[in-house]
Amino acid sequence: MEKKMREEAKKSGVHLIEKTQKVKLEPIETKGFILDLGGGGEGIIGKLNGNQVISIDNKIEELEEITNESLKIVMDACDLKFLSSSFDTVTSFFTLMYIKDQDLPKIFSEAFRVLKDEGEFLIWDLRIPKRLGDEPFFGVILRITLPDEDVNTGYGIKWEGKEQDIRYFKTLASQAGFIALNEGVDEEIFFLKLIAKKTKVI
Ligand SMILES: C[S@@+](CC[C@H](N)C(=O)[O-])C[C@H]1O[C@@H](n2cnc3c(N)ncnc32)[C@H](O)[C@@H]1O
Repeated sequence: MEKKMREEAKKSGVHLIEKTQKVKLEPIETKGFILDLGGGGEGIIGKLNGNQVISIDNKIEELEEITNESLKIVMDACDLKFLSSSFDTVTSFFTLMYIKDQDLPKIFSEAFRVLKDEGEFLIWDLRIPKRLGDEPFFGVILRITLPDEDVNTGYGIKWEGKEQDIRYFKTLASQAGFIALNEGVDEEIFFLKLIAKKTKVI
């Protein structure tokens, strides 16, 4: 299956990271609802935490295709329709790589706004190097290990003008008011746990 995914990617002009990247996930321990940004695709966070998750995606067809138990709502992550300080946890599982650079500050500030004081924004994403050569797309094949299933999938984006790494996300996060609590880089993918510090210590 993986070989077929690689062959098809090559035919479509996708520059794939050579090695399959691996992510192992355990259910997120949190009270209340989890807001998952860009929760279509494979709907991984909804598979992980089920009906505790509110999956938002700006494409209805992405939400219609997933079969997890999350509550699915069509919504733009740049313009969240939730009241401020509504959530303990916001997640983005390989979604920010799909967002145009000019929209990223808004997404970080919206995540900050809807989180409660000390709420957490959990991000899994991909290092994207500066475009080299003429392949129009950049992508990765991921093997995601969940407690009761493994998901093999590919995520890819239009490469032109898109370049990102954990440092870039940390800068955007701090501009929005977040503090980085935890971080990890594993080969080409990274994880960031950000905390929304809303009350200033005097
Ligand atoms: C391929 S998915 C990422 C993986 C997905 N989180 C999963 O669990 O498989 C990226 C999703 O982000 C969505 N998306 C892109 N821009 C968005 C935006 N501004 N607001 C909400 N969703 C967005 C896309 O429609 C797509 O479904």
